[in-house]
Amino acid sequence: MTVKIAPSILSADFARLGDEVKAIDQAGCDWVHIDVMDGHFVPNLTFGPPVIKAIRPWTAKCFDVHLMIDPAQPYLESYAKAGADYIVVHAEADLHIDRSLQVIRSLGKKAGLSLNPATPENVLDYVLDRLDLVLVMSVNPGFGGQSFLDSQLEKIARIKKMIGGRPIELEVDGGITPETAPKVIAAGATVLVAGSAVFKSADYAANIEALRG
Ligand code: DX5
Ligand code: ZN
Repeated sequence: MTVKIAPSILSADFARLGDEVKAIDQAGCDWVHIDVMDGHFVPNLTFGPPVIKAIRPWTAKCFDVHLMIDPAQPYLESYAKAGADYIVVHAEADLHIDRSLQVIRSLGKKAGLSLNPATPENVLDYVLDRLDLVLVMSVNPGFGGQSFLDSQLEKIARIKKMIGGRPIELEVDGGITPETAPKVIAAGATVLVAGSAVFKSADYAANIEALRG
């Protein structure tokens, strides 16, 4: 099975966001990755639900909404209504992970849990059956264009083993380039997020293909 590519629109031209979403769709992306930041959990601010609602008509592809916000629980319904397909919360931003994951599924959405680089994989131990996706951060979240942390390769491989035969996507986010992608795929990733590597130059289709390994 080929790896899915989820361009992060954090690196898109915000003045033309609808066109940019359409362009990555036509360039053959699998999902659209949307980085939601609150200026508190991470030192940056990005998209609220109205922005997601505004770009929803521009593609039929899956919206993978990465919530870097603390708390996340009060906003889950708003992001679900805005058009998210996957809603991913951070293990470090939530005292009640099990409950948040249940809420996401009760809203009819796929539930994901994201782990910062220093967070060990054992936070997954008692929630695996509530998950549709695990997101391994391979940079410290907050900004695009950072360098991939090789320390995360071992964690990706360990999580792959924990997942076993369950239908859970293993997504990796941060510093993905044509050079780092093969290592991440070899470790077991099924979805690669890429911001700068997709939007760095005009030929989005070529940039996406270059990541598939
Ligand atoms: C970082 C975000 C990433 C980011 C990736 O906090 O979660 O999705 O956009 O950007 P690149 O691919 O440039 O590292
Ligand atoms: Zn992200």
